Amino acid sequence: MLIFITGYMGAGKSSAGIKLARSLNYYFLDLDLLIEQFTEKSIRKIFEESGEEEFRIIERKVLLEHLKDENTVISTGGGTACFFDNMEMMNKMGVTVFLDTPLDFIMERLRKDRQNRPLLSAIPEHELPGFISRQYEERKKYYSKAQIRIDNTDQKILPGMIRAIK
Ligand code: S3P
Repeated sequence: MLIFITGYMGAGKSSAGIKLARSLNYYFLDLDLLIEQFTEKSIRKIFEESGEEEFRIIERKVLLEHLKDENTVISTGGGTACFFDNMEMMNKMGVTVFLDTPLDFIMERLRKDRQNRPLLSAIPEHELPGFISRQYEERKKYYSKAQIRIDNTDQKILPGMIRAIK
């Protein structure tokens, strides 16, 4: 089985994915890291040098290369589900999980840790909450196409994720 974890930036997709992979005895892959390995550049550098449009093309290419992986949990980037027909492809080839983390938790996390997130780093701090809530609302319709929604309110999601997947 191939499992994709989707959700907004700062939702905790990687740590959820690592825990899930460990408990299922699966491999774990992080799409952002795969992109960095493939391009030999950091995500920030790709955005700086080539812009978001090019990043989305690379992101899709790397995603497509992993659609036939087995026994693997892939944590996707916050935008992966929202471009091209990436979500449809993931739904077709694997099990998709929307890690539904409350916006206030996401906000707090991103406020502290946005330097490595090129979409947020240039936004002045006082505009950040507005930007994040607008983008989160726009993107939720894509995440909601996932087959499984996991409520991450108390950040104790592992038992629920395993139950939903098995
Ligand atoms: C992005 C999220 C990032 C990364 C890139 C773009 C987005 O991944 O792919 O900076 O559009 O939401 P994380 O969700 O892991 O931060």
